[in-house]
Order: sequence, then C-alpha cells, then structure tokens
Amino acid sequence: MDIEECMKEWEDLIADYKRLETINKDYATKLEEVGELQAACMKELNHQRYRMSVITGALKRLEKKGVTKDERVSNLEKEIMKRKAMLHEIEATLPKQNSLYLKIILGNVNVSILNKNDKFKYKDEYEKFKLILSAIAFVLAVANLYIDFRPLQLILIFLLVWYYCTLTIRESILKVNGSRIKGWWRLHHFISTVVAGILLIWPQNEPWEEFRHTFMWFIAYISVVQYMQFRYQSGVLYRLKALGARHNMDITIEGFHSWMWRGLSYLLPFLFGGYIFQLYIAYTLCHISYHPEATWQVPALSISFLMIGIGNTATTLMVIPQKLNEQVSYLAALFLVLHCCNMYTILQTLKKKMQGGLKLRYKLRAIAYRLSNEIAVLEQKWRQNKVEVKSE
Ligand code: COA
Repeated sequence: MDIEECMKEWEDLIADYKRLETINKDYATKLEEVGELQAACMKELNHQRYRMSVITGALKRLEKKGVTKDERVSNLEKEIMKRKAMLHEIEATLPKQNSLYLKIILGNVNVSILNKNDKFKYKDEYEKFKLILSAIAFVLAVANLYIDFRPLQLILIFLLVWYYCTLTIRESILKVNGSRIKGWWRLHHFISTVVAGILLIWPQNEPWEEFRHTFMWFIAYISVVQYMQFRYQSGVLYRLKALGARHNMDITIEGFHSWMWRGLSYLLPFLFGGYIFQLYIAYTLCHISYHPEATWQVPALSISFLMIGIGNTATTLMVIPQKLNEQVSYLAALFLVLHCCNMYTILQTLKKKMQGGLKLRYKLRAIAYRLSNEIAVLEQKWRQNKVEVKSE
C-alpha cells in the first residue's frame, strides 16, 4: 500500500465511522428508552401489588366479620394467586438491587441477568463450576489419604476456602436473578467457608493427625455426592428449560415429575449418608477436644459440623414434603417414617458389613430399589390427591 492508497483508505474509513456514529447514537437513545421503560414497568408493578394488597386486606376483613365465602370470592382469590405469579414473571425481566453482601463485595455494579437464556447459562455454569471443583477436591483428598505431606493438605484446604467463598458470591447473584435457593444452603456455604478457614489455621499437632484421615474421607465422599447432585440439578434445569416451565411445578408435567422423583430417590440416601458423616465428624472432634494438645479450633469445628449436619438434615427433610404437596401433611409424615426405616436398614447393613462379609453392594441396591418403589407409591397418592382437590 502506498501513501495514496492509505489516504484513500482513510477517506473511506471516515464514511464508515460516520455510519458507526449514527448507529451508536441510535443505540444510546434506545438504551435511555429501555431505562425509562424499566422505571415505568417498576412503577406499574408496584401499583399492581399495592392495589392487590388492598383487595386482599378487604377480603380478610370480610372473612373476619363472618361473611360467607361464595363462588365470586373463591374466583377472586384464584385470580389474585395467578396475578401474583404473573407479576413474579414480569419482575424477572427487570433489573434488581444487589443484596448487601454483593454490594460490599462487588460495589454497586448491576448483576441482573434479564434474558432467560443467559439466566439458564449462568445457572448451568454454576453447576459445572461446582462439579469441576469437586473433582479436583476428590483427587486432592484421595492423594492426601495416601501421602502425608503438609503442603498438599494446605492446598486442599485453601482450595475449599476459595471454593466456598466463590459459591456464596455466585449464589447471591443467582438469588438476585430470581433463584429460589433456600436461605439455609447459602448459610451452609458461609459456614463452610468459616470451617475451611479454621482448618487452614489448625496447627499441625497430634489432634490434627488423629482427625486428618476422617476429614479426607469426608471430602472424598461429599465430592462423589456432589457429582450425583450435579446429575440431578442439571437434569432438572435442562428438563424445565425444555418444558419452558421453570418454577411452575404443574401436575400436567407428568414426565418431569416421575423423573424428578426417580432422581431424588437415588440421591437422598447418599445425602443423608453425608449428614450422618457430618454428625459423626462433630462427635469425633468433640472427643478429640479432650486431647491435652487440642487447640480452640477443635471445639469450634465440632460445633460447626454439628450445626451443618442438623441444618442440612432439617432442610432436606423439609424439601421433600414441599415437593409432594404442602397440603398433604399425612404424606409428608409417611415419607419421614419410611425414610427413617430406610436409614435404619442402611445403618444396620453397614454395621453387619463391618462385622462380617455381607454383600453390601447388593443390599444397598435393594434398599435403593425399595426406596424408589415407595416414592413411586407416594407420588401416585399425591397425584390422586391433586385430582381429587381439582375435581372438588
Ligand atoms: N445448593 C445450591 N442450590 C440449591 C441447593 C443446594 N444445595 N438445593 C437447591 N438449590 C436450588 C435449586 O437449584 C433451585 O434453583 P432455581 O430456583 O434457580 O431453579 C432452588 O434452589 C430450589 O430448589 P428446590 O426445588 O427447593 O430443590 P431441588 O429439587 O432443586 O433440590 C435437593 C432438592 C434436596 C436435591 C437439593 O436441595 C440438595 O441437593 N440438597 C442437598 C445439599 C447438601 O446437603 N449438600 C451437602 C452434601 S453432604
């Protein structure tokens, strides 16, 4: 290219730049318009919510006065329920304020994801992140079981601090974007960050040597459970995306429900196995805390594991009846009884295995099979109940 050609190219580029300027101006105007539309939408949304609360309040007062509920009132209540769900859907398309935790960590940057596809991608990426980190933790835990090398232990523990810390941030972003993740799971990850931090500063003394193996087994175990959770969660995510029915657990999605129960019936025994492991660790640490060399980290960790174990058990036990149906409390009770029986059988089997050579794999498989049959029966009852409620 000689200088003449360069000059000609530049002239051409000036014309192109003018075009770019026009497009950019257009874009800036549209962005401003979007901002205004978002504000208008927000105002209308609040207006809808305010007027609905007035109507709901009036209905409640009428009920208190003893006015009988006729068909019109029942229809109005149903309409209000539906409208609430629709407002929730609309809200998901609008930007939201960051939580205090995100404001402290990220500042006032906007983390709202307004596009459904991008939300799905973000959640998918979060699940994959957990899976990859669990795989790394598994390898490190197994290596630590065979190699007694302090830096390797510290690498694993430091990885756990970073992992749980990152999870809390990602989950706060998911929450801002409409995830229904329960408060306990988020709190669980905050506590786990603290637990990993305490482990990091636990001096390498005799109590640590006593606990080290149990801890590495635990990390290896929960990494495997994490893989199972990943299979379940990504299955839920992809199926609901395909159905276009996120957050809408309608009875018509037959296939989805039976798939979900199959997935859960496989996963739940392993989750409860993990909770028993956590309680066992709390007990072991309590025992170790009487060691003359034990430092403050030991009782602190024992209390933390106890909290995690109890919190996880309670939350998971609460999730199952919710999934069956909030109104069918007898099914929830039945499920709990069945689950306790199954846990008892699993523990008995493990105990026998320790005593003599039982074919553990076949036994566990039989228990899983029985559990999935029981859940299928519960699901059937739940359906019948729903149909009866509908026909009423
Ligand atoms: N961590 C992060 N997010 C979770 C979660 C967890 N443990 N449990 C549920 N969620 C999310 C779901 O992905 C869903 O997100 P969305 O609203 O963005 O779609 C939301 O919370 C609501 O989920 P919910 O319908 O209540 O439950 P689920 O069917 O997705 O999962 C369980 C139910 C029991 C399988 C699940 O809660 C779980 O795996 N819990 C066990 C976690 C645990 O104990 N870990 C330690 C192992 S030792």
